Amino acid sequence: MANISTKYLGLDLKSPIIVGSSPLTDSVEKVKKLAEAGAGAVVLKSLFEEQILMDVDAQRVNNMYNSFGDAENYLTYYTKQKSIGDYLELIKDCKRETSIPIIASINCMSHGEWVEFALKMQNAGADALELNVFVLPADAEYTGFDYEKSYFDIISQINDIISIPVAVKMSHYFSGMANFFTRLSQTDIKGLVLFNRFYSPDVDIEKEKVINLSFNSLAVDNSMVLRWVGILAPKVACDLVSSTGIVDGNSVIKNMLVGAKAVQVVSSIIKNGPNVIAEMNQSLETWMDSKNYKTTKEFIGKLSQKNIRKPILFERTQFMKYFSDADFVNL
Ligand SMILES: Cc1cc2nc3c(=O)[nH]c(=O)nc-3n(C[C@H](O)[C@H](O)[C@H](O)COP(=O)(O)O)c2cc1C
Repeated sequence: MANISTKYLGLDLKSPIIVGSSPLTDSVEKVKKLAEAGAGAVVLKSLFEEQILMDVDAQRVNNMYNSFGDAENYLTYYTKQKSIGDYLELIKDCKRETSIPIIASINCMSHGEWVEFALKMQNAGADALELNVFVLPADAEYTGFDYEKSYFDIISQINDIISIPVAVKMSHYFSGMANFFTRLSQTDIKGLVLFNRFYSPDVDIEKEKVINLSFNSLAVDNSMVLRWVGILAPKVACDLVSSTGIVDGNSVIKNMLVGAKAVQVVSSIIKNGPNVIAEMNQSLETWMDSKNYKTTKEFIGKLSQKNIRKPILFERTQFMKYFSDADFVNL
């Protein structure tokens, strides 16, 4: 029978399904249910850099956010409801009540004194840390190089402080993406999570209002992840994990075939409940048996860009065939 276990960030995962950072992972009760359903690991709901700073120096952060009423209110509210000490308790409880790896998570955009808190996460028992770094490139004075530097600064400071493995969850808003991600992978980080998903705008044509697109992703949202995992897997010096649009067992298999060591799932579990994890594990096992794979190592990366006969398939972006031959258009 196929063994669906995998290794990610040096951690042994009994399944490649990692529950991504979200409200699904904000309590020990939920994490226990996810572990029972067969999750290989969980990434806890993120703490924000500002929350940590707020705890360190509430007055200063209030001053920082004075001109952003919403952010200030949110932070003041959130910090009153949940202290960062609760986060450390969550890590300890999850470690005590489950046997799967527990990955802590911080949303951040700069290096600074908040980084010290990572050590407390490590001491509370976190098996790894995922940094959800996003710096909006909105300052006209900053070049792409300046923005990239802020990622290196954060990683360097974090790695000076903690010894547990660090993964960085990335967006796809970079110009020289293959070059930048490859250089990031050559630092002390152990994994890259491709990609984060952001709130995106939609339009309600009845109310004639701009609204938020549903946060649930669809299978089609995974195609960009497949492309970049396939392109980067042969190039990077760390693990890759796919995130966004992994909705069923087939998408788990596809992402591993192009090079992902594991996958992260959120929307599908929110929509279908934790049982979808068991279904994904079952589909993977059945597929591996049908292909005679005994271990995941035998097929991870089998279809990465370097291993296929037509590597251009990962890079082709224009509908060349369809531009030249329009017979399929039924008009
Ligand atoms: C309601 C909700 C809350 C989320 N909160 C976080 C968060 O705190 N930190 C984080 O890194 N990602 C967060 N995410 C992003 C998810 O971890 C994940 O990257 C994204 O939803 C794409 O995966 P999916 O297609 O399986 O949903 C959140 C997603 C959702 C839907």
